[in-house]
Amino acid sequence: MPTFYATTPIYYINDVPHLGTAYTTIAVDVLTRYHRARGEDSYFLTGTDEHGLKIERVAQEKGMSSARFADQAAQPFKDAWPQLSCQFDDFIRTTEPRHEKQVQALWRQVRDRGDLYLGHYEGWYCVACEGYFTEKELEPGNVCPVHKKPVERVKEPSYFFSLSKYQDRLLAFYDKHPGFVAPQARMNEVVSFVRGGLEDLSVSRTSFRWGVPVPDDPDHVMYVWFDALANYWSAIQEPKELQRFWPPSIHMVGKDILRFHAVYWPAFLMAAGLTDEQLPKQVFAHGFLTFNGQKMSKSLRNTVKPVALAEAFGIDPVRYYLMRAIAFGQDGDFSLSDLVQRYNSELGNSLGNLANRVLHQAVKLVGGKMPQIGQLTELEHKLLADTREAATTAAAALDAVAPHRALDAIFALLGAANTYVDRAAPWAEAKKGDLVRVSTILGVSLQVLDAVSVMIWPFMPASSDALRAQMGLAPVSTRVGLDQWPFELPVAAAGAPLGTPVPLYPRIDKDREAALVASLGIADDTSVAKSAEPAPKPAAPAAPAAPAAEAPSRPAEITYDDFAKIELRVGVVVAASKVEKKDRLLSLQVDLGEGSPRPLVAGIAATYTPEQMIGKRIIVVANLAPRKFGKGLVSHGMLLAAKTEDKLTLATVLDDMPAGAKLS
Ligand code: MSP
Repeated sequence: MPTFYATTPIYYINDVPHLGTAYTTIAVDVLTRYHRARGEDSYFLTGTDEHGLKIERVAQEKGMSSARFADQAAQPFKDAWPQLSCQFDDFIRTTEPRHEKQVQALWRQVRDRGDLYLGHYEGWYCVACEGYFTEKELEPGNVCPVHKKPVERVKEPSYFFSLSKYQDRLLAFYDKHPGFVAPQARMNEVVSFVRGGLEDLSVSRTSFRWGVPVPDDPDHVMYVWFDALANYWSAIQEPKELQRFWPPSIHMVGKDILRFHAVYWPAFLMAAGLTDEQLPKQVFAHGFLTFNGQKMSKSLRNTVKPVALAEAFGIDPVRYYLMRAIAFGQDGDFSLSDLVQRYNSELGNSLGNLANRVLHQAVKLVGGKMPQIGQLTELEHKLLADTREAATTAAAALDAVAPHRALDAIFALLGAANTYVDRAAPWAEAKKGDLVRVSTILGVSLQVLDAVSVMIWPFMPASSDALRAQMGLAPVSTRVGLDQWPFELPVAAAGAPLGTPVPLYPRIDKDREAALVASLGIADDTSVAKSAEPAPKPAAPAAPAAPAAEAPSRPAEITYDDFAKIELRVGVVVAASKVEKKDRLLSLQVDLGEGSPRPLVAGIAATYTPEQMIGKRIIVVANLAPRKFGKGLVSHGMLLAAKTEDKLTLATVLDDMPAGAKLS
């Protein structure tokens, strides 16, 4: 039985849970849920790193014992993660006796095998990093390159770990296990660091008390990183059956602490006598987040509270945004306006809209029961093939720790499913009285939604539950040994009652957005970080659209006859792509109910991706003379969009209307 054991770093308790630590924790939750859905025996560990000089000093400043401070400060972490739907199996604190016992056992193992020796350490120590720096690593004025604060000169007796002995074995290990560090670029950094030469590491301190005592030499406490890294080991030693989870499948870390995990940690374990095959399988270093374009300084970290963000915008939208908007592994920005934009256009218009229209039609046309699926046409075969392909692509992406790519595949499928409903037009079949066909269309659509509800579960568990309830289905419930990933489409019993359709993602309009942002209590300069980093201005649509919302001037009057000359029609986007060397433009194929789709070019690429456009119902000026956009690019019509200084949104119709419907 394959096991999946994933960990977050254990977080320092002198901080509060913030967006950065929430990002790591959510990513691990998504991965673990996915592996659980695949039927793997899975374990998710998180916790807090509570020892060290830094904590001792903060406790002193607060006039508390270190132990009392630690108890108080660990709690917000335990409380926060479930409020972001992160379902950890265990929360380990380094001050717990179970950890101290195991880390001391590990120390003895390393010592008894001969890789710890007593010496003296003198060096530059950064309290914030809990780490030593060599002279050449420091910035002018003996300043820590990470925290930009002066480091301290420290001289003390210390145990040393013979790290230098492990240089060759580490390099051979990286060579044999190229996936040990991911993404690949990070592996290159690690290899070149190790090739540059490893010095023995000071791993104990005598100058403070707040740490795990070194076995048989109580004047020393362990270096916090020896203590902290060992949490991954100590958490699963007891009860004994937990040992089945070793070795860890993935240590998820930010790029800031990669070296500790990819160099020191495997070396400690090698020194404890582990074989290469018993070492952790992967250390994945993700990128760093900024918030509204600003670096997550300590004060910003304290202000942008992930739980408050989730209370304002919903847990699932925040999780979705973090996993979709930032290519996992790279740095990225958490932008509130982008969150709202993606909420409305991707969650609302794509997922919510598909669910809502299919379920409404099912209530209206087939009595709110799971419809019987009859003869399939090419349209259904294609959609079902798309669904299987999306399941395969999403699984491969999640196996490769690329959650953003998994969501790309799922949302491309949603685009295809919306287009399918437009084309299959169950409302039109109902008008013709062909109820068998209506049942088939809605039955297949519900099958696809069922598959989607499983695939979104790792990312958005509450949305998955709600969607499934509306389809009359039980929530996803995982079981070891049962692979529930929808490589094959789920088949629900025909005739089973459906639930009540309720919009999954009610639209957030401008006023609501402003109220939600205000509720976060974030200072103006961060909530509208445009001052720091202006949002890119969306390009104008292919031709001028509606006037700007602010202070519109009254335009010159026209007669009704003038207006009647313009033919406006509903169009459904069936294909979309970027235009080479024209960043602003998208090239679209739009179904206007004319038999074959029309080519349209629109200057909307700064706001919409091609994939977001697929399935969208847009308003097209259908009788405009063709317009050239250079190099064989001709637009046979123009889409309408509302536009202000810094925002653009497409005009559409409120309800399902067939492609080609005329506006008057
Ligand atoms: N206690 C150590 C880890 C010991 S693990 C054996 C530590 N703790 S920490 O509280 O500082 O957490 C660091 C982690 O928080 C990073 O590795 C990263 O996972 C996360 N992040 C902190 N700030 C971040 C961003 N701005 N963006 C993304 N993640 C960030 O280091």
